[in-house]
Amino acid sequence: MRVGIVGVSGYTGLELIKLIINHPIFKLTYLATSSGDMQIEDLHLALKDVICMDVKKANVEDVKANCDVVFLALPHKTAMSFAKYLWDSDIKVVDLSADYRLELETYEKHYCEHEDRENANNGVYGLIEHYREDIKKAKLVASPGCYPTATLLGILPFVPHIDTNMPLIVDAKSGVSGAGKSCTDTTHFVNINDNIFAYNPLIHRHAPEIAEKINELHSKKMNVHFVPHLVPMTRGELVSIYATLKDDIDPISLLKEYYKNDEFIRIREKPVDTKSVSGTHFCDIFATREGNMLFISSAIDNLLRGASSQSLAAANLMCGLDESLGLPKIAYVP
Ligand SMILES: NC(=O)c1ccc[n+]([C@@H]2O[C@H](COP(=O)([O-])OP(=O)(O)OC[C@H]3O[C@@H](n4cnc5c(N)ncnc54)[C@H](OP(=O)(O)O)[C@@H]3O)[C@@H](O)[C@H]2O)c1
Repeated sequence: MRVGIVGVSGYTGLELIKLIINHPIFKLTYLATSSGDMQIEDLHLALKDVICMDVKKANVEDVKANCDVVFLALPHKTAMSFAKYLWDSDIKVVDLSADYRLELETYEKHYCEHEDRENANNGVYGLIEHYREDIKKAKLVASPGCYPTATLLGILPFVPHIDTNMPLIVDAKSGVSGAGKSCTDTTHFVNINDNIFAYNPLIHRHAPEIAEKINELHSKKMNVHFVPHLVPMTRGELVSIYATLKDDIDPISLLKEYYKNDEFIRIREKPVDTKSVSGTHFCDIFATREGNMLFISSAIDNLLRGASSQSLAAANLMCGLDESLGLPKIAYVP
């Protein structure tokens, strides 16, 4: 199957190339950025003598001519400016941005005016373990945000057993690649090296995404109090979730039972860490309780399970393939 990636100069675009090179069915046929006119190995030196392909200036007609599947590894707003022209084609679209993740009203409140309002709610949310059957039939999959991925995979099994009138507190830490390739004051080496700080506490745009999906799957409106932190690592994301139990459950047994058929969710008996999932599609989850206080710890690689490998898993399902084709399992350890 012919596969295109728009946004190959970015971090998630590069991860997609690395995954698809090793995929048994998907073949890269179209790579694009905003300017094009270069070779992929000149853009990413790590790809020299690995892959030799032209990078084009992104153009929707070229996507239509060259792809059966396209990944939009683009900023929000730019992604919908491509996706809106692809609904009437046969191309399967996986959008890594936020443009089709949320209800229109939620999106416009937290992002910007939607350019493709008639289709804004027609994407399928790409959280694999919870939307698998819908993804198989999807024309466009909206790949979840990295923080919502780690948070939702951790909390969703417990929602029937927690007091949803009590706050859900999510304390999250991310490596700097979560912010994309552009350097800002915040991501500048001198500011992030040997340093750690919260950003957008309680107002980050991923809080409404988490709340909306809990409500969509469990019909429970929860107050999600979400505080992300930037930490001096390149990749990896660790999420600590605090909730109030109403049922007398054993957290580890519940998780093991819930995810017993999901090969890329690993339930761990000890608090999880980012290094063990770095470079993989795994989400590692640990949970424990003290009285009615529930603590859940969830770790992913933000660029893979939080973006590119989750998008590849969605594309596999959309194309009727085995979900696990091309998904990495071996972590970058030590
Ligand atoms: N980084 C993560 O951990 C992560 C996790 C989950 C989701 N996401 C989402 O995934 C998307 C991509 O993230 P990223 O981290 O890979 O971003 P990034 O490193 O900033 O890369 C963005 C890419 O978009 C391209 N682009 C921008 N405007 C374009 C246009 N008009 N036409 C064609 N290409 C254009 C850029 O190409 P040029 O070089 O030509 O500008 C670049 O290749 C974002 O929506 C992000 O929110 C990221």
